Formats: sequence, structure tokens, C-alpha cells
Amino acid sequence: MDPMNRLTHLREILRYVPRFRDRVFVIAIDGAVVEDENFRNLLLDIALLRSLSIGVVLVHGAAHQILKLAQRTGETPTNIDGSGITDDATLQLSLFASNRVAYELVEGLDAADLRGATGNFLVAHPAGILGGVDYQFTGKVERVNTDFLLSLIQQGVIPVVPPVASDGEGCSYRLNSDVVAVEVAAALKAAKLIFLNTYPGLVLPAEIPPKAGETLKAVLARHPVQKDTPRLIRSVSVEEAENLLKEARELLPQEIAQKFEQSVRAVRLGVPRVHIIDGRLEEGLLAEVFSNLGVGTMVHANEYQSIRRARKSDGRTIVSLIADGVVNEELVRRSRAEIERQAGDFFVFEVDRTPVACAALHLYAAEGKAELACVCVDPRFENRGIGTKMMQYAEDQARQAGMGQLFCLSTQTFNYFQNKGGFSPGNPDSLPAVRREKYDKSGRHSLVLVKNLVQGLPPR
Ligand SMILES: CC(C)(COP(=O)(O)OP(=O)(O)OC[C@H]1O[C@@H](n2cnc3c(N)ncnc32)[C@H](O)[C@@H]1OP(=O)(O)O)[C@@H](O)C(=O)NCCC(=O)NCCS
Repeated sequence: MDPMNRLTHLREILRYVPRFRDRVFVIAIDGAVVEDENFRNLLLDIALLRSLSIGVVLVHGAAHQILKLAQRTGETPTNIDGSGITDDATLQLSLFASNRVAYELVEGLDAADLRGATGNFLVAHPAGILGGVDYQFTGKVERVNTDFLLSLIQQGVIPVVPPVASDGEGCSYRLNSDVVAVEVAAALKAAKLIFLNTYPGLVLPAEIPPKAGETLKAVLARHPVQKDTPRLIRSVSVEEAENLLKEARELLPQEIAQKFEQSVRAVRLGVPRVHIIDGRLEEGLLAEVFSNLGVGTMVHANEYQSIRRARKSDGRTIVSLIADGVVNEELVRRSRAEIERQAGDFFVFEVDRTPVACAALHLYAAEGKAELACVCVDPRFENRGIGTKMMQYAEDQARQAGMGQLFCLSTQTFNYFQNKGGFSPGNPDSLPAVRREKYDKSGRHSLVLVKNLVQGLPPR
């Protein structure tokens, strides 16, 4: 990589850092990835996450190792991934294989100068009799020992969570590691759940099937085909993911359909972003987390449920929201008539159906640029991430409108836009001509901040 490229890459990484500092990422590693030659590199990527003050929890699978062990011993496991029936012999294989993987992970972390620890982080119960069939030693997660996990994370330790757990009375059960990862991520209120497996993510065929449903058509349209290769779906909202599972499940390999299903479950349980990536790609983990494009598939929550387009009738509320900001010269004065005239550009964030924040997005279509303006949060609702959501929403809207750049002008809040919004200092000369004229006339000498947008993709 040439030095300039490296620098751009570093800038892109730094843009994401404030968002993830002191948050937890749960990384679910399939057993096959632990045996891959990229495993050592993965540990270095995890070391980088830790150095950015991101708490990491590893949840591992063991299906690959169970299969290999069974081949050696000549046994036939009743199930390998913890989703079917586990008889006593398969449980013993699972315990042996799982201990081996957990040890390799702790040992690998140690070699990367990281501290890892495995233990009883879960309480399990038997899955029981399902559809008249006794699942024997297959279990389900009853409880996640959140305090134990958090205390390790606070001490800088990386907990390694195995796909077997006991019921606290001396009986062990085999669990499905994807399900464990979802439960752990939800219990820890993780910022991300990342599945590292041996598939690139959600891949759909190049050809649109003749009877494709509406969501499948919309998702395929957003991901143009490249040289007839199967399409890697970069990002879908949780609603789209649910529809795709209904409309196109048969187009997906079983393993990916299961991961996709668990991704939806995780988002519905409150994990805002879930990623499925090929754990064997060098620097794949970093590229997925720290670049808009990513390398795999992201399933994300609809974070904009509380945001709606402003109506003319919001004019008065917006005027009173921005009043203090205008007095403090943080915001440009706007009359109610002016706001009502431009109501289509404004959007508001509602709490209990009352707007508590506003912002505007003005498009300069000819130049392919959009201006984020008038960002204002009611002081009683500050520091809850509402301003950041408004910025992200505006960015998404600008991107969907095909704009290549988002800019904003600020006299006092430039640090906020840079630290929380990923803007960089720009130049008044880069403003669209009409906007430049207004800028010169205003005499405010605001700083110009810009952000280049990657088309079609929300931030990861
Ligand atoms: C700036 C503003 C939009 C932030 O909204 P918010 O919903 O409180 O912001 P978020 O919750 O997303 O982010 C809060 C973080 O931003 C930081 N922040 C807030 N205002 C800041 C500023 N002026 N400069 C730098 N950082 C700032 C907070 O310290 C907090 O940091 P932390 O997460 O590290 O603790 C809001 O304070 C506001 O409306 N200010 C008055 C109007 C204004 O200046 N608008 C921008 C003019 S274009």
C-alpha cells in the first residue's frame, strides 16, 4: 500500500474511533477460522481494537473440530453444531473439542500480548423435547453472567465463551455458538456482533429470479452486478433481512441462512449492527469495522424511527428550538416563514411525539453536494446521541439522493462535527457558487467542514 493510501485508511479508521470507544464488540469465531492461517492476523486485529479501548468478547464454535475428532475416533456424532440432538458420546466429543479451541484462543491471545480467560459465563438448561423428540444434551442459554464478563472486560481481559455450558448442578450441555453469541451480545448491550465464518457474507445470484419479491428486487438493485459474479450484499436493514429470509431463503446456503436469522434476532434484541464476514480474509475484520464499504454483510437496526420529515406546522416549534442557538450565534437566524417555506428540507427528532431536535439538509444537485444545517437539540435532551443520529440520517439522505459530498458551516460547533460526525476541515472555495455568495454576504466567517460520501452505503 502506498503511503498516501495508508494515510487515507488511517483517517477513515480514526473517524470511527470516538463512536466505539469503551463499547463492547462480541466476535463469534467459527472453529474452522481458528484453524486457518489467517488466525494469527485476526488476533493482531483484535489487539488493535483493544488498543482503541474497545472491549472484546470472543465466542467460539467447535463444529469443525468435532467433525475432525470424530473422524479420528471413528465415531458418528449425532449433530455437530449444537442445533440438533446431542447424545452422550457427542457431548463428550464436544467438550473435548471445545476445550481445545478455547485453549488455542487463550494461547493465541497470549502470543499477541493480550490477556484472555475462559470460564463459566453462561447457565444452560436442556433444550428438552421438541416436536416429540428428546434433544438429550443439547441445551439453550438460560442466563448470561453479565457481571462476570463485564468485570473481566474492565480489567482489559478478553473473555473466551465456549459453546458448552453447565446448568450449575453438574450437568453440561452443547449449545449452538451463533445463538450463544447473540445472547452474549444482547446481554452486554454490545455495539457490534461480528460473525467470522468461512462464507463472504450474504451472497445472492447475479440473475434476478423471475418471481423475486419486492425486498429482494430492491436489495439487488442497490448492489449492481459486477461481471456476472454472485452479488455480495453489503448492508440490509433488519426489516429487509426479515423479508429476504421469507422471500429468498432457498437461495442461501443453510449455514448463511442460519447466521442471517441469528443476525436478525440480535438486532431485534437491541444490537444495532451485526456483521457476517469471511474470517480468513487478511485484515477483513478491520476493513469491515472501519470502512464504509466493508468486506462482508451488515444487518443494521432502523435507528431513524424517531426521525420524520418536518411539516409546515412544525415551523413554530423549530423557531423555538433554535432560539437559544441563534442568540449564542451558534445558529443562523431563520424566520418562521422561511422555515415553513423550506419545511421539505427540515427533519425533526421526536420524543413522545414532540420534536426535541431539528436539522435541515439542502441539496445542491448540480454540484452533487448537500449542506447539513441548523442542527439543534433541546438542551434537556443533549448527550443522548440525538445530534449524532440527526447527522447520520442527513448523511444517509444525501447519499440516497446521489450526492457525493456533505458539507456544513459552523462557528462554534466544528469540533463536534469533526469528532462525532467524521467531517474534515474544508475550504469556502469548495462551496456551491450560490452558497459561496451567501457565505460571503453573511460575514459570519464560519468554518467549512466537509465529508465525502461513499455511494449506496450507510456507515458501518
Ligand atoms: C451540538 C449539539 C447538536 C449536540 O447534540 P447532542 O445530541 O447533545 O450530541 P450527541 O449526544 O450526539 O453527542 C454528545 C457528545 O458531543 C460533545 N459535544 C457537544 N457539543 C459539542 C461542541 N460544541 N463541540 C465539541 N463536542 C461537543 C459532547 O461533549 C458529547 O461528547 P461525549 O460523547 O464524548 O461525551 C447540541 O449541543 C446543540 O444543539 N447545540 C446548540 C446548537 C448548535 O451549536 N448547533 C450546531 C450549529 S451548526
